[in-house]
Amino acid sequence: MTPPAERREDLLDFLRRSTSPYHAAHEVTERLRAAGAVVLDERDHWPATEGLYAAVRDGSVVAWRVPRSFRVEAGVRIVGAHTDSPNLRLMPSGTVRTPLGSLAAVEVYGGALWNSWLDRDLGISGRLATVGTDGPEVHLVSIDEPVAHIPQLAIHLDRNVNSGGLKLDPQRHLRPLWSITSGQAADLRDVLAARHDLDPGTVVAADLMFHDTNPPALIGMDQALLSSARIDNLVSCWAATDALCDPASTSEESLAVMALFDHEEVGSVSASGAAAPLLLGLLDRIVAALELPGAERHRLSAASTCLSVDGAHGTHPNYAERHEPGHPIRLGAGPVLKWNANERYATDAGGAAMVHDLAARCGVRLQEFVMRADLACGSTIGPLTAAGLGIRTVDLGVAQLAMHSARELCAHEDVAALAKLLSAYWAG
Ligand code: CO
Repeated sequence: MTPPAERREDLLDFLRRSTSPYHAAHEVTERLRAAGAVVLDERDHWPATEGLYAAVRDGSVVAWRVPRSFRVEAGVRIVGAHTDSPNLRLMPSGTVRTPLGSLAAVEVYGGALWNSWLDRDLGISGRLATVGTDGPEVHLVSIDEPVAHIPQLAIHLDRNVNSGGLKLDPQRHLRPLWSITSGQAADLRDVLAARHDLDPGTVVAADLMFHDTNPPALIGMDQALLSSARIDNLVSCWAATDALCDPASTSEESLAVMALFDHEEVGSVSASGAAAPLLLGLLDRIVAALELPGAERHRLSAASTCLSVDGAHGTHPNYAERHEPGHPIRLGAGPVLKWNANERYATDAGGAAMVHDLAARCGVRLQEFVMRADLACGSTIGPLTAAGLGIRTVDLGVAQLAMHSARELCAHEDVAALAKLLSAYWAG
């Protein structure tokens, strides 16, 4: 097992490099490849021989380990999470030129806390699509340097902002300023193309988004806190990948599956989101490759389980009244099981018992979250997966503060505990 300090560095490195879902899928795939995974193309036939495999679909990645002697009764053990985070995305037009400077035209992706994007040094990353002599191609691109900034309005020009609350219009007030040079001819797509040795004349489209260039850091007097962008939900992606690459998590009889989806923050309805038949297709292909009769698919589902791993709300010390008083959630006190009577989370007693059993056996503490009855509850990919596959699913995750801010906060010990729990799940 890699020493804890080295794994913490790897977690920070993963968070820093995964600036877009495409980059997250790439980072996960590279870690799996280093652990011996065969990376397959979805258009190819997939083998059923023992080993670790992965396939990428845009910003999503699935990976699975075929055991030495698979038994249908041992089932499939699925861990699901998401690669995307709320952010600001470049409109196709890209640039708004004004006499005062060049701004980036942006749309808000997902439920971002808009104010958290102000006064930060922003980089940009995502994909550029080109049409050259070889036809259409898509390229992963990134500038992880401060190339843009959204300055907030001075208090002298908005005297009531502290008492009255900050009002932002996303169309007008969230445009990053990226140049004050008049007559600036290039736009951000051209700058990115040039950085990656692509002919700007061949660029026809892009999926680009901004990120804070301030790197992830361990903070607090005892450095127990992890301060970073995209904690929701890249810490789950990291923990799942770390667990799947851990040789100790290898089972002899059950199949391990990891599914990291894009587009959770906007409802999962896309060709690569959790509402797409990506996971179902993977299970069908595995069943076919193992040459199991069609009816075995149902026996397999009945023997299988899924852990839907996503961020949980820690109790905010400055706003304790917003939280359910009987269910305080502390950072550093272990992964959190998420409950909701209206099935916004998929956890039920049977699934929770399975996780409590695992946690007791690997020495991990658990906490139980439920939203106040007078506040609406968020959701995640758990209920979608449970309904789509008919497989028992449990929602759980690492407690954090400032969810959906450009900078979030959690305890790194909880991320390590989650990885340990997922290893034990796959090993069992
Ligand atoms: Co999330």
